[in-house]
Amino acid sequence: MNEKDYMYKVTAAGRVNIIGEHIDYCGGSVMPAALSLKNTVLVRPNGTDKINIKWSTLPDEVSIDINSPQSYLDIKYGNYQAACVAELKKEGVKIVGCDMYQDCTVPFGSGLSSSAAIEVSTIGALCAVARVHIPPEKIALIAQRAEHSLGVNCGIMDQYASACGKKNSVMLLDCNTLNCEYLPLVLGKYSLVIADCKKPHKLTESKYNERRAETEEALEVLGKKLNVTCLAQITPKKFEECADMLAPTIKKRVRHVVNECERVRQSVAALKAGDIVTLGKLLNESHLSLKDDFEVTGRELDALAFAAQSHPSCIGSRMVGGGFGGCTISLVETVGVQDFKAYVSKKYHESTGYNAEFYSADIADGLTITECGK
Ligand code: GLA
Repeated sequence: MNEKDYMYKVTAAGRVNIIGEHIDYCGGSVMPAALSLKNTVLVRPNGTDKINIKWSTLPDEVSIDINSPQSYLDIKYGNYQAACVAELKKEGVKIVGCDMYQDCTVPFGSGLSSSAAIEVSTIGALCAVARVHIPPEKIALIAQRAEHSLGVNCGIMDQYASACGKKNSVMLLDCNTLNCEYLPLVLGKYSLVIADCKKPHKLTESKYNERRAETEEALEVLGKKLNVTCLAQITPKKFEECADMLAPTIKKRVRHVVNECERVRQSVAALKAGDIVTLGKLLNESHLSLKDDFEVTGRELDALAFAAQSHPSCIGSRMVGGGFGGCTISLVETVGVQDFKAYVSKKYHESTGYNAEFYSADIADGLTITECGK
């Protein structure tokens, strides 16, 4: 593969989420950041009706007919790309036959949104060869629809962060209005450490859609009563007043949502004040709430987060993303990071038998499109 043989190089980012988990589809504000782990697509028009895809990590090559992208949604590799073609067509964009070379450095199934990175970069590449400009915010929405068409009823956080992230900034994204504020991530003497519990998981096979449905069921009951259009508009105090209208399990789910929204508000204040210790405490509370009220953590993520929290240099740790597997993030005193990693690896392996993996990544830009040689 030689970049010069292609016309455009398009990248889109994986993401972490500092706080605000499982509230994007409830209209809450979330605090993600785009990572330097990313999907890269090299693309050139090929003058045919086919999109030919090669990968850096796979021997397989796949060819998608641009006239019938829907019929490729079940294939093992290339289904994400096919879903993007189908959704872009619905937007009225003329799809141009092309060769694509895809290279993903976001680990799959890690909760760092490899799928969003693939979708956003693929849509960016298809737009580039079609010479169509679509703003990244809109690309994010199209990418979200592609994900829905593949069976995950996700919110907008991942695709938005992947498309619109900015170097060195966290995003405060209001998922109700899609208004986005960028805040510098200044952690002082602390570092953000990303650890993968290495338990494989897939959101399509997890209870992700079930959780989303539970929150929708709760809104049916509470919406009219409290005059709100999404659960994120309910304050913790209001919620306590009417919690007994809900069945016990649904009540726990909503308790997570309203408290997590409150934690995001407190985290923004802490970050703006440079109070990283408070931010750390909020991460710990978020994990507990995802474990006990939302029930999306599981044995491995709990073991990893609790091992991290028990290290003296760590001021907070929690799972990120959809849950049921994938990664945790921890705030750790920079001088103690090496010792922290050794300690967590050992403790986590002792309790689960899995070997945790740590990823190095910077906070980076979202979607980028550059011209190559050809
Ligand atoms: C997944 C989804 C997001 C979001 C998170 C949980 O990553 O794709 O939309 O719901 O889970 O916060």
